[in-house]
Amino acid sequence: MNHFEYRDGHLFAEEVPVADIVRHHGTPTYVYSAATFRRHFQAFDSAFAGLPHLVCYSVKANSNIHILKLLGEMGAGVDIVSGGELFRALKAGIPGEKIVYSGVAKTDEEIEDALRAGILMFNAESLGEIAAIDAAAGRLGVRARISLRINPDVDPKTHPYISTGMKKNKFGLDMDTALQGYIMARDMKNLDPVGIDCHIGSQLTTLEPFLEALDKVLGFYGKLKDLGIYVNYLDLGGGLGITYDEEEPPQPSAFGAALTERLKDLPLTLVLEPGRVICGNAGILVFNTVYTKQTPVKKFVIVDAAMNDLVRPSLYGSYHRIEEVDKKSRPVETVDVVGGICESTDFLARDREMPAVEPGECLAAFSAGAYGMTMSSQYNSRRRAAEVLVDGREEKLIRRRETYEDLIEAELDL
Ligand code: LLP
Repeated sequence: MNHFEYRDGHLFAEEVPVADIVRHHGTPTYVYSAATFRRHFQAFDSAFAGLPHLVCYSVKANSNIHILKLLGEMGAGVDIVSGGELFRALKAGIPGEKIVYSGVAKTDEEIEDALRAGILMFNAESLGEIAAIDAAAGRLGVRARISLRINPDVDPKTHPYISTGMKKNKFGLDMDTALQGYIMARDMKNLDPVGIDCHIGSQLTTLEPFLEALDKVLGFYGKLKDLGIYVNYLDLGGGLGITYDEEEPPQPSAFGAALTERLKDLPLTLVLEPGRVICGNAGILVFNTVYTKQTPVKKFVIVDAAMNDLVRPSLYGSYHRIEEVDKKSRPVETVDVVGGICESTDFLARDREMPAVEPGECLAAFSAGAYGMTMSSQYNSRRRAAEVLVDGREEKLIRRRETYEDLIEAELDL
């Protein structure tokens, strides 16, 4: 069931015409579907019903606190990577014991804040970090639960910028160093090594790399047991891909079945950190056509969204389907859809076949719910977009469009 669908040529978000949202809130605006978030979380969570597990939604994909609340109310924990994400998660009411903390650069301040929040575990990524967590726990007089992030050297066969589990990547620890790390952690005063962690990349469209990584991690789990180190958690990160164009990633149910098959007899709680698969197709970016422009070699559709709103096409060459909010029949042409930023990489689509739209017509970029708003910026002093959450017939503004005052507030507030 798709909650962004056309009815008589008009795009709806659940029961609300997207044109109404534009009338109320202007453009560019991210529009999300609450029913889609719920369905995706439910499908993912239930895929692991056969195992003790905790789904820790990856906040970086979409961090609006209303979305975190919605998922938290369904039982989700969260995966965070910064003090800011911890702050958001706590504001949204996510309990500390459902928070896992990944990332290579955790500072003392961030570690202490996370310890005060009583998080489930740190996914530590270097020997230096293990020592820093032990020291911080000592200062606060608490014990810290940690997992070490293993870099299994597996090729996830995705875009190189979002591959994380290969030898050359900055993430995690190679197996030999990780073994050393566990021995070090076991002998430290304030640490409890409770898990093993691994995340190999994002937008994976086949199961094989996950299973290859899992085999390596389970081999490592065996080695830890031989050393008398028994962990209770296995965190396999996120990474399951979605359909943007013609990709056919495995369904969560197939992912769940494959992992359940391998893990069902082990005394481990599985932690998962899905981001994109929960929210990617739960959101669209709606924008208006400002001008069209024909040059001797190309036609440009110039819109009021830009790379500061949705950077994925510029950064990774990603594809987002773009269609009119209200369809009319007319000829198709090949265009670049571009924003107003002073960079030639500022495009939302290149050489795209689209109906010949005119200034004043609204367009929607689909599959924009993950890594859309969270990667946005104010480049060129553009105000960040509004965000609207639709739930059935209701539309709720969950982040107002920034004002010009917002742009300079932190500079004046000294
Ligand atoms: N866990 C860790 C440790 C991660 O680094 C990530 C994503 C996730 C979980 C969630 O991965 P997901 O399930 O969403 O694939 N900006 C890029 C994606 C970067 C992903 C970074 N890490 C994009 O727009 O495609």
